[in-house]
Parts: sequence; C-alpha cells; structure tokens
Amino acid sequence: MNEELKIPNHVGIIMDGNGRWATERGMVRTMGHKTAVNTLKGLCTHMADVGVKYASLYAFSTENFKRDKSEVDYLMNLFISSFKKEFKFLLERNVRVVFSGRREPLPEKVLEAMDEIVEDTKNNTNLTLNICLNYGSHAEITDMTKKLCELYKNGEINLEDITDEYIQKNMYQDLPPLDFVIRTSGELRLSNFMMYQASYAEFYFPKVYFPDFNEEEFDKAILEFNKRNRRFGGIKNEKENN
Ligand code: FPP
Repeated sequence: MNEELKIPNHVGIIMDGNGRWATERGMVRTMGHKTAVNTLKGLCTHMADVGVKYASLYAFSTENFKRDKSEVDYLMNLFISSFKKEFKFLLERNVRVVFSGRREPLPEKVLEAMDEIVEDTKNNTNLTLNICLNYGSHAEITDMTKKLCELYKNGEINLEDITDEYIQKNMYQDLPPLDFVIRTSGELRLSNFMMYQASYAEFYFPKVYFPDFNEEEFDKAILEFNKRNRRFGGIKNEKENN
C-alpha cells in the first residue's frame, strides 16, 4: 500500500452479509459465517501489517440471540473453534485480543475460549483486536452507568471525577475513539455498534458481503478514508487533518 496514506488508528468493522453471501450461492447461511472466519484471518494479518493499531469487530450483538437456535448454536461453536484454533496465529503476529460485551448468557465453553485467548495474547503490542461479542451500545452504556453509580455510592468517586475521559475509561474496554467504521453488505445502519466511540468516525458502506471483504477491499476502504476531510466539529484544514 502507498506509504503516504493515512491509516486510521482505530477501525470498526460491522461484518454483515454472511447469510446473504451463502444463500445466493445455494448454501446454508452458516456457510457464510464459516467463510467469514477465513476472511477475518486475512484481514487481521493485513490490518496489523499496514499499521492499524486498534480494530473493533462486531461478531455478535445482544440482539443476535433472537436468531434461530440452530444458527446461534453454530455461531457459539464457531467462536470456540476460532479462539482455540483458527486464531492461534495471532500470537505470532503480536496481536492482542480483548472482548467487549456482556458475559451473561454466553455458554461457559465460549467464555473459557475467550478467556484463554485474552490471557495468551495479553502481552502482545502490535494490533489490539477488540471482539464485540454479545455486545450492544445500549448495554454498554447501561453497564458503565451502573458501575459509576456503584463507585459513587461507595464513596470511591466524586461527581467531579466523572469527565468525558473517565466515561471512556469505564466502557467495556478503554480504547481510543473510532476513526473509521466499515459496514459491509450495503446496509446503512449502526445497529447498536459502539455509538459512543463512533461519535466522530468516518463511515464507509461497501456493497460486498463480508466473506468477500478481503485485503483488496480493505485497501479500497483506506483510499476512501484518505478522501475524507475530518474536522471534528472545528474548521481544521487538509494539512492538519489526521
Ligand atoms: C452478520 O451477517 C454476521 C454475524 C451476525 C456474525 C458474524 C460472525 C462472524 C464474522 C464469524 C466469525 C467471527 C469471529 C470473531 C470468530 P448476517 O448473518 O446477519 O448476514 P445477512 O444480513 O446476510 O443475513
């Protein structure tokens, strides 16, 4: 990739269209999810190589539990096998894995696989991969509010301690704001994904379904990001733009 290009520090990806990708090929929907794991592996390597420092992936929303039990079960098993096997290469790639989301009601085996990959990669320093699993922005803000109320009630914080920075630190993960949010499959929605963190993000909605969102598609997204003039509510000019 062109070395002059600005690389977003924190990229969010809403990995949409797995079901449609499979159905259009006459396959069962779950084949789309399976193929998506391979796509994701390539993308993680690529993002680490081009210098993305944080990537947040929307893997399973709090609302996704409303899907057919068979699809939910398939996804839970896919998470287990991905974290225990498929994602082992992240160790050598110096990628750190963290998770955002509620642990309840995730199955014990999924939680074990999550905890294991977090522990195995905790000292890695290249890309931080924030996997949003059983995640929702509303749940995150609710959980953060409860946490702060509890701290206040116990006299551990004062009202003056609650600043914008403090709120960010008390989200599921203390991550920098999102610079760029990509949602594949042509849908133009945020769907409860990192609303707080995306307040000044640039958005990109490629038509391709996630299983086809390969390294080449990612590079196209970066070119698009480079065309944006980010002002953060001010009047920054092109030169100062980051
Ligand atoms: C949305 O597409 C996708 C999901 C709900 C699942 C995302 C899961 C993966 C990419 C699998 C691997 C992830 C990890 C972290 C190991 P959809 O099924 O809603 O597609 P549709 O809109 O075409 O039905």
